[in-house]
Amino acid sequence: MKEKVAVYPGSFDPITFGHLDILHRGLELFDKVIVAIANNIEKKALFTVEERKDLIRKSINGNDNVIIDSFDGLLVDYVKKVNAPFVIRGLRAMSDFEFEFQMASMNRNLNPHMDTLFMMTSKDYFFVSSRTIKEVAQFNGPVSEFVPEVVALSLKEKFQRK
Ligand code: PNS
Repeated sequence: MKEKVAVYPGSFDPITFGHLDILHRGLELFDKVIVAIANNIEKKALFTVEERKDLIRKSINGNDNVIIDSFDGLLVDYVKKVNAPFVIRGLRAMSDFEFEFQMASMNRNLNPHMDTLFMMTSKDYFFVSSRTIKEVAQFNGPVSEFVPEVVALSLKEKFQRK
């Protein structure tokens, strides 16, 4: 039987427990999930793509059903390349919905075979985003409740060096 594979795209700058929650729940629906880091030149990232890959790798404890990859350009093209027409996205709140709805609609317009599955973020991570985590970490605030230890340490190192 053909494996069911989904793409979980994002910036993952850095990965949080919110992302990991969506990833683990995605793995209950699909045989494999490709975590695809968008190499988005418009967004100024704190971590390089390689650093982000490494943090994800260390956060998933060697799960063979997770593939970590990155892509340039359009998500629809990447999805076609890897032959996985399902995309998973986490939804935190209504404020996420508008952008996500636009993006999913545009993607479906570009590729009618592609489908976006939205998963509601678990209540513990509703307010967690990579952006807010970076802001808290930048001023030495506690983030270990929201990110794996390896990420918390890397954030500390990054901001100490800056
Ligand atoms: O974690 P993010 O930053 O919310 O993820 C957004 C992401 C990377 C999924 C989105 O920006 C994306 O798919 N970028 C690739 C370019 C593209 O295909 N955009 C969608 C057409 S509107």
